[in-house]
Amino acid sequence: MANDQQVAENLELDSLDDLVSLCKRRGYIFQSSEIYGGLNGFWDYGPLGVELKNNVFNFWWDSVVRRREDVVGYDASIIMQPKVWEASGHVGNFYDMMVDCSKCKRRYRVDHLRHELGIDEVPTKCPNCNGGLNAPREFGLMFETYVGSTKDSQSVAYLRPETAQAIFVNFRNVQMSTRMKVPFGIAQRGKAFRNEVTPRNFTFRSREFEQMEMEFFVHESEEKQWFDYWCEARMEWYRDLGICNEKLRFREHDADELAHYARYTTDVEYQFPFGYQELEGIANRGNFDLRMHNDHSGKDQTYFDEARQEKYLPSVIEISAGLDRTVLTVLADAFAVEDVDGEERTVLRLAPHIAPRQVAVFPLSKKLSEQTRKLADDLQRRFNVLYDEQGSIGKRYRREDEVGTPFCVTFDFDSLDDGQATVRDRDTMQQVRVALDVLDEYLADKLSP
Ligand code: GAP
Repeated sequence: MANDQQVAENLELDSLDDLVSLCKRRGYIFQSSEIYGGLNGFWDYGPLGVELKNNVFNFWWDSVVRRREDVVGYDASIIMQPKVWEASGHVGNFYDMMVDCSKCKRRYRVDHLRHELGIDEVPTKCPNCNGGLNAPREFGLMFETYVGSTKDSQSVAYLRPETAQAIFVNFRNVQMSTRMKVPFGIAQRGKAFRNEVTPRNFTFRSREFEQMEMEFFVHESEEKQWFDYWCEARMEWYRDLGICNEKLRFREHDADELAHYARYTTDVEYQFPFGYQELEGIANRGNFDLRMHNDHSGKDQTYFDEARQEKYLPSVIEISAGLDRTVLTVLADAFAVEDVDGEERTVLRLAPHIAPRQVAVFPLSKKLSEQTRKLADDLQRRFNVLYDEQGSIGKRYRREDEVGTPFCVTFDFDSLDDGQATVRDRDTMQQVRVALDVLDEYLADKLSP
């Protein structure tokens, strides 16, 4: 039974406001500690958000670790010996320059303000009130805490600002225990913390966030070839995640914006409603990190390459993505408001393989609840399923469109006789009859990447 409704118009998301309210309304993302007024830069994931986040992460892990023979996984502690951060250069170098307006008290990151105003020099006038900006100051980004029973300079420790350092300091442990040979990589997902000067744009720039990082150890002579390889592989991954290709691009870092450890870096960027922004950095870190830890710890970090008969500190090609930022991208890219026969339809066109709820199952009438619940239970063994009998079928479809559920299955009175159910596709709104005994295979096929 084809649905003949026409999609007349697709209004693109022009600000994040509608997405933010959908995320709250449907249980994707909430402000942290909301009932106490929230805390700027901190966010929680609701029931659908946590499923989406896990699906995005699993898709990354499959692509970067599971399906490869040359990458292994790791899961390190968040708080590490503070000497790690002295050696890595973060204690001395990890800060942003900021300026405050003496009149309206607004605070800006100097690099962001320069970019916004299109100037090279240090800005002196506030773009908000034209008041004077005071001289730039360093703003340390690392959160400090104390370990143990005393609170003094001896017990200071840091919440990690990136997951990468744990991989570097464990390079020898992993290499020796797995007998991996260069070139090979070590990957991990985990929380990172930065006391950002200006957290903003929903979860885009938070103070607590998750990273998905992989450090790929190579011989110096192969840096460029592996760097190019990972740039292509990572762009392909975003496309496979269902992100609109036209909104993705590469951007090379200028020399003056390179991190202290990087020889060169290219970002994968996405065109958000607030402009092109970084999703992931792909960096050639050379052997900076291994050299620093080699020198500071006094423990030999060199690797003996049997094939080359050479002992050296490997170079590192890093791929460093933000998990929360990727989830935001997926949501922003999927969000659409359409005019369907004069009515507004809000829909999340999530790629089916990452949708947090895969199938919704409805009885046409409450008289069919028993049979439909059984169908939902059967499908639940394989998919993430919601059973819903509240409201008209039209209203139930609209709710699932907003949630991004790719398929709705309706069990009706004909199903009792012909052993078929109606499957409705979220994107085309087309409906087809599918035999109940092949329904799970039909859905599995449609939901696979
Ligand atoms: N290990 C290298 C590194 O951490 P980065 O460019 O500072 O490099 C990597 O961060 C990725 O982490 C970014 O591309 C972004 O996706 C994510 N990220 C960084 N800061 C973030 C923040 N404040 N909020 C959310 N995600 C962030």
